[in-house]
Amino acid sequence: MLTTLKIYRYDPENGGAPHYDTFTLEAQPTDRVLDLLERVRDDHDGTLAFRRSCAHGVCGSDAMRINGRNYLACKVLVKDLGTTEITIEPLLGLPVKKDLVVDMGPFFDHYREVMPYLVNDEEPPEGKERLQTPAERELFDDTTKCILCAACTTSCPVFWANGNYQGPAAIVNAHRFIFDSRDRAAEPRLAVLARQTGVWSCRTAFNCTEACPRDIKVTQAIAEVKRALVRRKPSARR
Ligand code: SF4
Ligand code: F3S
Ligand code: FES
Repeated sequence: MLTTLKIYRYDPENGGAPHYDTFTLEAQPTDRVLDLLERVRDDHDGTLAFRRSCAHGVCGSDAMRINGRNYLACKVLVKDLGTTEITIEPLLGLPVKKDLVVDMGPFFDHYREVMPYLVNDEEPPEGKERLQTPAERELFDDTTKCILCAACTTSCPVFWANGNYQGPAAIVNAHRFIFDSRDRAAEPRLAVLARQTGVWSCRTAFNCTEACPRDIKVTQAIAEVKRALVRRKPSARR
C-alpha cells in the first residue's frame, strides 16, 4: 500500500530552518517504521539522519516520535499505526543534532547522577557470591529491563518544562539499585532524588509508563522511590 512519511528535517551545519520532507513509498502492513526510514535513506535521500543499531528492540537507540507518540522505530509496525500517513519527529525535550538524532548528553547526565551501578565495598562471603533471595530479587526485577531509550523521559511534560528534572529513566535506574539488597549506596541516590529536581517534581502524568517499550511500570517505580524517601531516617533528610 502507498504510505506517506512526513519526516522532520534539520541540519544546523547547512543553516536551513527546521522543516518536514514528505516521501511516498510502497509499504507492507508488517513493515516496521525503521524499515521505511532505511528505505527512504537508501532510495530517496542519503542525507537523512537517524540512529539504529540492533533493530530488535534491545539497544534503545531508535526512540522517536511517531504520529505524536514515542516508540522504538524497530518495534512499531505500519499496521499498528492504523494509518498510511506517518509523521516522524525527534524526541521532544532534547536538542536536535540532525533530523531525528537528538543530543542524549543531558539524558545521560541525569542517569549518571544516580550512580547506576552496584556499590558495595564490603568483602564478599568467602568462596561465594553475594546471595539474595528470590523475594529480594523480585523487588527490582522490573527496573532491570530498562534499555535507556529515553522514550519515558522525553514524553514527560515535567521534563519538557524543566530539563533539569531528573526524569523517569534516571529514577528507574536508581530504583534498580536502591532496592537491591546487595547494594550499600541507597542513601546518596535518595539524596539526589530528594532535591527539587528529583522525584517530587513528578506529577504522576503516566506518559512515561505508556511510552516505555519494555512495559516497565515506570510510575510505580517512581512511587516506590518516593515511599523510600519518606521512610528515610530523619537524620538523612535535608
Ligand atoms: Fe526506555 Fe522504559 Fe528505560 Fe524509560 S524506563 S529509558 S522508556 S526502557
Ligand atoms: Fe512525568 Fe511519568 Fe511523573 S510522565 S510526571 S515522570 S509519572
Ligand atoms: Fe535497537 Fe531499535 S534499533 S532498539
